[in-house]
Amino acid sequence: MTSLAAALETTAIALIRRRYSCRVYENTPIDHSAQAQLSDFFTSHPTGPLGTRVRFSLVAATDDDRESLKGLGTYGMIKNAAGFLIGAADVGARNLEDLGYRLEQAVLLATELGLGTCWLGGTFSKSGFARRIDLAAHEAMPAVVAVGNAAEGNRARDWVRRSAGSDQRLPWERLFFDESFANPMTGEQSRNYAEPLEMVRLGPSASNKQPWRVVHRQGVWHFYLQRTKGYGKGSLAFKLLRLADLQRVDMGIALCHFELAARELGLTEHWVVEEPDIRKPDQCTEYTVSWKP
Ligand SMILES: Cc1cc2nc3c(=O)[nH]c(=O)nc-3n(C[C@H](O)[C@H](O)[C@H](O)COP(=O)(O)O)c2cc1C
Repeated sequence: MTSLAAALETTAIALIRRRYSCRVYENTPIDHSAQAQLSDFFTSHPTGPLGTRVRFSLVAATDDDRESLKGLGTYGMIKNAAGFLIGAADVGARNLEDLGYRLEQAVLLATELGLGTCWLGGTFSKSGFARRIDLAAHEAMPAVVAVGNAAEGNRARDWVRRSAGSDQRLPWERLFFDESFANPMTGEQSRNYAEPLEMVRLGPSASNKQPWRVVHRQGVWHFYLQRTKGYGKGSLAFKLLRLADLQRVDMGIALCHFELAARELGLTEHWVVEEPDIRKPDQCTEYTVSWKP
């Protein structure tokens, strides 16, 4: 394991707290050693935790030459990105979750390296990025991540974060439940999982919709996707814009935060796909996976 990847085992909670979406960068390249460490991480993690083959590429500008980023458009959302992390997931039942999980690990590693990042699911030019990773017909590339040296004051000046309400998160009682969706979980009921759950809550999500829900029952933590109506799968806007199912990527990010925080605290359960007999609140709620001893 690289020393960078080892950092995820001991400092993930601090890194999750430090991360935010950075949309304005300094006009400087990413340090060579940081590029090498990120690329190494990708090579040594070829599958997601739910079994899908995922591959990644870091496309970065060289010293004074931003030519290498030509064709990688972000519709004006991102200024001066020094590079992009591009991921491609193979076919599979939970491929977008696997991609979200692994790419978020890379986001946290970039955070450890002192870099700023921003997930992009809607505002990136698909064709340019697909060419860079040689996207195959059977692969999905739902989102990419801009990366670079954060410009001073970018967070305070960012109108996108203000309009998306990016500093707001739903309260615990809307996200976490005990035994059934009818019983919101209180802090005391979270047992030794208060911190991993809080790390789910702090995760980035497309348009800050926060679609993750977790139900605890008999020692098992069940993860559900609460789809936002009119957003994602099947919705007209998504069909017209040919956007991927970004809320499944959000779920992958949440699984990553939860597992890293749990491992850091010495908790040793693992992921299984075994849907419990828990009544779902509506048709927009879908079971994903459980964290089980
Ligand atoms: C899958 C995904 C897709 C996203 N797509 C975009 C995007 O296209 N453009 C953008 O400016 N931000 C995008 N974001 C960033 C979210 O708006 C941001 O994570 C959310 O508002 C919370 O803010 P924070 O990341 O600063 O905590 C995306 C985030 C995720 C997880």
